[in-house]
Amino acid sequence: MTKAANKIIVALDVPTKEAALKLVEKLRDQIAFFKIGLQLYTAEGPEIVRAVSARGSKVWLDLKLHDIPNTVARAVESAGRVGVQMLTIHLSGGSEMVRAATAARVNNMLLLGVTVLTSATEEALREIGIQDKVDDQVSRLAKLGIEAGIDGVVASPHEIKPLRREFGDKIKIVVPGIRPSWSEPGDQKRTMTPREALKAGADYLVIGRPIIANAQPDEAVAKILQELT
Ligand code: C5P
Repeated sequence: MTKAANKIIVALDVPTKEAALKLVEKLRDQIAFFKIGLQLYTAEGPEIVRAVSARGSKVWLDLKLHDIPNTVARAVESAGRVGVQMLTIHLSGGSEMVRAATAARVNNMLLLGVTVLTSATEEALREIGIQDKVDDQVSRLAKLGIEAGIDGVVASPHEIKPLRREFGDKIKIVVPGIRPSWSEPGDQKRTMTPREALKAGADYLVIGRPIIANAQPDEAVAKILQELT
């Protein structure tokens, strides 16, 4: 597998185990890492994590946990035991929750923090009592997460450079909103191509629809990898 291929995570945003495993079987020679999100995990449970892992692939479980510190810590531990390599929590849960979560990591898993969801606008922040700009809130939560021991953050493409500038190589930056030049943006607003996002300093790119909604997902991956060589 090429160096670029190891930086791509394919989002298994499909409703069933059958559909997910079909994609994994088709792509596992090209791609090492897959993301399981709320839709698939709610339908299929830990069995889908075990099934993807059993095919030799790494799993990012994108559950964006946010609860009292003890509950989050116990869920982190459970995810590590099931065998996930990466898991997300909401940094807005506060430093006590994040510290409890990082202390509960097992089996070398990476814990990623979500700062502000890309769907959130400044009005949405006002609604929940936050007066700051989105960028300032992202930076505040990233700092909180890093100080509490988080391994990385999920960030939109335009946040890569400011986060690298502020935090250097202390964190992994994982970036959705990636669109190859030949694909449709869909509902993603501020996109970057894979090449642009890696150049800006992303460690991993998470890509869903440009690959999984393509009639030939393996050809879509090949085209993306070609753009990166
Ligand atoms: O299909 P697409 O490439 O837009 O998929 C991107 C993936 O990244 C989806 O699984 C989406 O839930 C996830 N994601 C995102 N924006 C975030 C966090 C996660 O698009 N801020």
